[in-house]
Amino acid sequence: MRVEITAAPVPETGVLVVPVGREGALSTAAAALDARSGGLLRRALAATGGPPKHGELVELLLPAGLPQERILLLALGKPEGTRLLDLEEAGGALAQRLAALRSARAHLASPAGLDLPEPPARVALALATGCRLRAWRFTKYQHERPDEPKGRIEELVLHLEEEAAEAARAALPGEAARVAGVLEARELVSEPANVLDPPTFAQACRRLERLGVEVEILDKDRLEALGMRALLAVAQGSAKPPFVVVMRWRGAAREKPLALVGKGVCFDTGGISIKPAQGMEEMKFDMAGAAAVVGTLHALAARKARADVVGVVGLVENMPSGTAQRPGDIVRAMSGKTIEVINTDAEGRLVLADVCWYTQDRFAPEAMIDLATLTGACIVALGHERAGLFASDERLAGRLLAAGEATGELLWRLPLGKAYEQHIKSEVADFKNVGRAREAGATAGAVFIQQFTNGVPWAHLDIAGTAWTSRDLPLCAKGATGFGVRLLDRLVAEHHEEPGPVG
Ligand code: BES
Ligand code: MN
Ligand code: ZN
Repeated sequence: MRVEITAAPVPETGVLVVPVGREGALSTAAAALDARSGGLLRRALAATGGPPKHGELVELLLPAGLPQERILLLALGKPEGTRLLDLEEAGGALAQRLAALRSARAHLASPAGLDLPEPPARVALALATGCRLRAWRFTKYQHERPDEPKGRIEELVLHLEEEAAEAARAALPGEAARVAGVLEARELVSEPANVLDPPTFAQACRRLERLGVEVEILDKDRLEALGMRALLAVAQGSAKPPFVVVMRWRGAAREKPLALVGKGVCFDTGGISIKPAQGMEEMKFDMAGAAAVVGTLHALAARKARADVVGVVGLVENMPSGTAQRPGDIVRAMSGKTIEVINTDAEGRLVLADVCWYTQDRFAPEAMIDLATLTGACIVALGHERAGLFASDERLAGRLLAAGEATGELLWRLPLGKAYEQHIKSEVADFKNVGRAREAGATAGAVFIQQFTNGVPWAHLDIAGTAWTSRDLPLCAKGATGFGVRLLDRLVAEHHEEPGPVG
């Protein structure tokens, strides 16, 4: 979807979207149209049975006295205060309505004159961003069906006053970069595992080079030389070779980078501890952590963030075969610690053990955040509403929680601690890769990974419940969500970025 910004007056044809406020308040643009049409807008708002709520749309078809085909009044403003996220969600509602109307192009009148906490340029851009995020769908493998013509907004023109248009033009690239990062992550997660296998994923990371990201691909020989035997043990059942990809965006010279680590299991069959057939197709999404890391680097580089961020993803496929690892195998991780593999389906933590160790060892980051679709137990605990947050560092935890609230990518903190470390003690090795049956499963995964962080400030986001949605959400149609990109972009902007004009 394209977004255009103009200081020109709204056109006399097509679909016009006009922001209105709470309790029937009219924006300057709405008041002008109301006057021209002999009070049509006020009457329409009054006829809806109470003033429309934030994000509601009131439609005027062939409005009397006005030349447009269709006018949509978009209500903005929540009684408890309107955040940018609320405006984005209103943009999402707009995308839905335009899709239902099969309107590919619409014009948004200026929100100037409304009592909102953000200036008109920010409001219009937030609406456009929400529209973009909500309108995206993964359709590349579908022929258009004659009985279902595609209803999708393709272009939104933002009409703003001269000065606001200027401000919006300046902020648009940053906004577009964030959206592009989210959509990049969604694309990767949506691709099936026959298309996006570890080699293909590694090559896809190379696309970031065009944005100025340094990309280094470590192949199997290199991983062997590094001693990443926990990761390699997961990969050994697959015909596809594993990769670790290191991506670095240096938009600022900082002493230590922020490190983002992603679980990239391109398909998780469970291995020899094989999963049931029912629903196994969903396990193509088991690389969503890695996709979020790629998407975040995409966003940061595209908006030229003044930050130093390194992303490291472990790419493998977890398959059962004659070469697959077996339950009971003992492997030595890169850190030197040994792991008894009780369940080959607890593979993500084996991958992350080596990738986290490697990342802290090579980069000595100021903080390290891993993202992983790690446990079904996290979904049992939190549903699909929030991702699990585990953190060794209070400040990092607080910052992540706040970034989550601001972006709508909500987190909920779950515990770590010595008592839980008992759960992963092995009789024959330093650790085993599962905890106790039906006890604190998400934490067992987290404390396992923590053993390989070497004490650097670290957080683990278990995104098993949030990386994919089976229901439409305000900013995301059913399917891959791109969860983590907006959250991490926000974290960087707030705490890891030097002030400056870009971004
Ligand atoms: N990728 C799965 C986690 C998962 C399961 C995500 C269901 C979304 C839905 C992970 O690799 C896994 O299989 N975890 C096991 C761990 C267990 C064997 C300790 C799980 O959660 O069942
Ligand atoms: Mn698994
Ligand atoms: Zn998995």
